[in-house]
Amino acid sequence: MLLDTFERKHDYLRISLIDNCNFRCTYCMPNEEISFLPHAQLMQVDEIVEIAKSFVSLGVTKIRLTGGEPLVRKEFAQICEKLSSLPVELTLTTNGVLVHKHIETFRTAGIRSINVSIDTLQKEKFLQISKRDAFDQVWKNILSLVEHQFSVKLNVVVMKGINDDEVIDFVRLSEQLPIHIRFIEFMPFDKNAWHKDKVIRSNDLIEQLEQHFSFIKLKDEKHATAKKYKLLQGLGSFAFITTMSQIFCSECNRMRLTADGKMKNCLFGKDELDLLQAYRKGEDITDIIKQSVLAKHEKMGGQFKEISTETDASMIINRSMIKIGG
Ligand code: GTP
Ligand code: 5AD
Ligand code: SF4
Repeated sequence: MLLDTFERKHDYLRISLIDNCNFRCTYCMPNEEISFLPHAQLMQVDEIVEIAKSFVSLGVTKIRLTGGEPLVRKEFAQICEKLSSLPVELTLTTNGVLVHKHIETFRTAGIRSINVSIDTLQKEKFLQISKRDAFDQVWKNILSLVEHQFSVKLNVVVMKGINDDEVIDFVRLSEQLPIHIRFIEFMPFDKNAWHKDKVIRSNDLIEQLEQHFSFIKLKDEKHATAKKYKLLQGLGSFAFITTMSQIFCSECNRMRLTADGKMKNCLFGKDELDLLQAYRKGEDITDIIKQSVLAKHEKMGGQFKEISTETDASMIINRSMIKIGG
């Protein structure tokens, strides 16, 4: 079992398959030419599986595949198939645009739940945010996932003046469709043009929604990042990921593996341990994994204060989101 010094049990691993993406969302990646890892520097298929097995031997029960965009990785189907033989809940977070090519892969790998990032329901704005004219395809794919009976969560990063006027429309969707909307407070990462004035606190959104809808609080799972609600008549639900206004680190069970095989013990941590190099040298990586978990800070990678909208984002040492995987 992977316990840290705060008695938190770590059983959820997020594996980034690639640091590249077919979208260019500004809140996720630097607004400049960035270079992506050459294929040889990525964890290769069997390395991903063997490293994942070490985590499973230490008690991991849930693996989420992330990117960049995980479906851009050309061996995605192979990786999925191999990981599906492990005794874990396998899942992924995607921007949705390539989902139609992988429905069968998801099914045979036993994936039941898929998180799709979508920040607007307007075609033009979608192009502005992602720099890709892909709204129609993404929307079609979301509906297709619902039809194929996947549990679908939509991740919406709420940014003041950009998409905060659409919160009501998103909540309405959860009335009509069995999907789960998650409003995420905008977080600072390397060169992502974060500013505290663009953050909207979840409590402010809840107050706004109370003027339009009647809804109830749902029970949250123990390690959930999101606080869930439901419209009285809703088929789905909506929730808030309150990283900036209400830290939820005390229940954290998450670890991350970057596409180049570095272990991060916290989304906001600057420390990384190189599992891939150790694995390639034939070393026992379970000791390194335990060491990383034991070094985990109490909250926010030890870099943030409690009221994090006051943070000077330029002082945070971290990767850009596209190179972490969320
Ligand atoms: P579920 O397992 O379905 O609850 O998904 P998830 O919230 O773990 O993962 P997802 O990839 O959908 O991430 C949604 C949002 O939550 C993203 O903005 C992530 O950056 C954020 N998030 C995920 N894990 C953490 C975490 O450990 N800490 C913080 N602060 N935010 C996180
Ligand atoms: N703040 C909050 N969430 C973010 N994501 C990407 N960048 C940010 C950010 N700066 C979310 C995406 C994706 C998830 C993995 O992380 O919406 O769904
Ligand atoms: Fe866990 Fe770090 Fe996220 Fe807090 S910020 S919930 S400690 S990963």
